[in-house]
Amino acid sequence: MIIAVDGPSGSGKSSTARGVATRLGLRYLDTGAMYRAVTWSAVERGLDLDDTEAVAERARELRLELSTDPADQFVVADGTDVAAAIREPELSAVVSKIATNLEVRKELIRRQRAIIDAAQPTGGIVVEGRDIATVVAPQAELKVLLTADQDARMARRGAELAAGSVTAEQLRDQIVRRDADDATVSEFQVASDGAVTIDSTYLSLDEVIDAISRLAKE
Ligand code: CDP
Repeated sequence: MIIAVDGPSGSGKSSTARGVATRLGLRYLDTGAMYRAVTWSAVERGLDLDDTEAVAERARELRLELSTDPADQFVVADGTDVAAAIREPELSAVVSKIATNLEVRKELIRRQRAIIDAAQPTGGIVVEGRDIATVVAPQAELKVLLTADQDARMARRGAELAAGSVTAEQLRDQIVRRDADDATVSEFQVASDGAVTIDSTYLSLDEVIDAISRLAKE
């Protein structure tokens, strides 16, 4: 069983995908965390992020340990716990640059498919990202494209705002810019064959989890 949950920043796909995995007793993979971990490593090494070959090499060399337990998430990159560091606004601002590197994508997609295969004997996995239904796992039994309007997506990033690390204007800029950067990757968010679109603007997290869990049992 593979459930693909794709969607843009702030659509609520992380909480949703993790919630569905918990509800159905499945594993959970956050593919965005993998792009973020490669970005973290490239920045930490002081690489020129425009040097596509050097960044791709870093992606291939990086030792990445990622939990697929929805109740116990961790991300360890070359032995360092990076769970908090990969969520920093400075890192979020440059991750799209790394995600548009085709050699990085090739390497991470290879690793994602291996993790998905390894989860099958345990019952299955919920995989969240942007290109899961279209590229990583087009064989998924259930494909969900999660959307929400821009204000709702901003509101969901409210934790960063409350922490005072960014202003509302910076947050909107970040979302708009990341949408634009991500839009340059053609496989993102195009409705894949058989995908169900759920607009979560006026739905609670529980309602979205209920809807997907019900579809999964059909
Ligand atoms: O949830 P949010 O959009 O803030 O971030 P994320 O899911 O952690 O993804 C961070 C970035 O990684 C995205 O903006 C994409 O540029 C990239 N990404 C990707 O290219 N392919 C994926 N399957 C997942 C994320």
